Amino acid sequence: MIKFDCKNIDIQTIGFENGLNIEEEFNNYSNQISAIISDLNKRKDSRGEWLQWMNLGYSEETAWYVKEYAAMVQGRFDNILILGIGGSALGGIAVTHALLKPYWNLLSKEQRNGFPKIFFLDNIDPDAITSLLSFMDLKKTLVNVITKSGDTLETMAQYMIVKDLLEKELGDDYRKNIVATTDMRTGILRQIAEQEGYKTFVVPDDVGGRFSVFSAVGLLPFALVGIDIDEIRAGIKDMDLALKNTDIHNNVAAQNALIHYLMDIKQGKNITVMMPYSSRLKFVPDWFAHLWAESLGKNETLEGVNCHIGSTPVKALGVTDQYSQMQLYNDGPNNKIIDFIRVEEFDNKLEIPKIFEYTGIGYLGGKTMNNLMNAEADSTRVTLADHSRPSVTVTLPKIDGYHIAQLLYMYEVQTAIAGALYNVNAFNQPGVEQAKNYTYALMGRAGYEDSAESLKLKMSVIQ
Ligand code: PA5
Repeated sequence: MIKFDCKNIDIQTIGFENGLNIEEEFNNYSNQISAIISDLNKRKDSRGEWLQWMNLGYSEETAWYVKEYAAMVQGRFDNILILGIGGSALGGIAVTHALLKPYWNLLSKEQRNGFPKIFFLDNIDPDAITSLLSFMDLKKTLVNVITKSGDTLETMAQYMIVKDLLEKELGDDYRKNIVATTDMRTGILRQIAEQEGYKTFVVPDDVGGRFSVFSAVGLLPFALVGIDIDEIRAGIKDMDLALKNTDIHNNVAAQNALIHYLMDIKQGKNITVMMPYSSRLKFVPDWFAHLWAESLGKNETLEGVNCHIGSTPVKALGVTDQYSQMQLYNDGPNNKIIDFIRVEEFDNKLEIPKIFEYTGIGYLGGKTMNNLMNAEADSTRVTLADHSRPSVTVTLPKIDGYHIAQLLYMYEVQTAIAGALYNVNAFNQPGVEQAKNYTYALMGRAGYEDSAESLKLKMSVIQ
């Protein structure tokens, strides 16, 4: 199992002014936490609670269909192209980056064991899209368009471009190169997929985008590039079992949720920096930032009382960002809590050659990059503690599907528990609707004419 260490939160390590009396807080909140965990597990099967993501690890059916399809198309495609944004892309990016051999798309087909390259288009930049599509052989590309709502304009705009090109290149056969992952019944993509006869996968009811990585949204791309989805599912299930424990002393997600919540409301540390010490985990903070920000950044409580709460996520990478952000974290405002993610055993051991022994870098010879990486992670968290800065450390024994799944699932449960502590709805996102509506208006969507007028007026005032 992954390990969790919160010593560098405690008053004994970082002092009264910035720390928490962990033992006391765990005891104070033990009943409330226990009630929250029981409640989540009680409500998870009910419709409309948006907690179906807690069941995804157990869905034999999805896993079966995904594996069957992946096996059926194996060898037919050189590229997988994912079209999606937000929760329809970030989990896929984080997990494939972590689990595939680094620089996957630069490896030969043999080095990829015959599996395809994978590309994610999660933005609408015309230069990036044009460039990607100019070198990609679409005939040998399987396009997986993913959108739960089925009408996210960015994804659908990408899809329209790619579908048009595919049809021009492949004629009527283009349909075999498209697979859609969307809601079972509703949305424009569902409608189109049925009309056009695409193969489809389902984003289940009551699973929000940012909690959907272990549905077909993530599992299908993983299986298509040869990632063992049963190993992932085993990791989710084991972590889920551990996180069903209602005793905060034995529940790492509850501990980290409470720590972040109390650090925010008691100590004013409402910025959460996630900093993995592994390049393969580089995109986990991107996935987490979406989960944490969109779930907790809310302006009303569950009872509808006005509030402006939330903890701001910041993405960092060890050691790279020691040379860009660490000065601020050590000496700037003490308003952050850092989540270090460490890896005990890397797949490779990389020794530094014993050369230049007569110079000041001679001491590095014979050591490994593995020692160096973990020495830097330790030095950084101890330095932060020396500066009375709080941090927690999550340690993965190694990077594999089992542990990555545990890591992501732990943060999902942590986010749900944090939502309950803040007393907000962690599963909606009303704050992103207004900008979407303005964009619809600007792009001429029917029904948004009034918004267009008011927007034009406001824009002329701003300019
Ligand atoms: O968490 C969420 O539900 C959202 O942020 C979605 O992931 C995002 O809006 C993309 O939505 P969709 O999958 O419907 O295209």
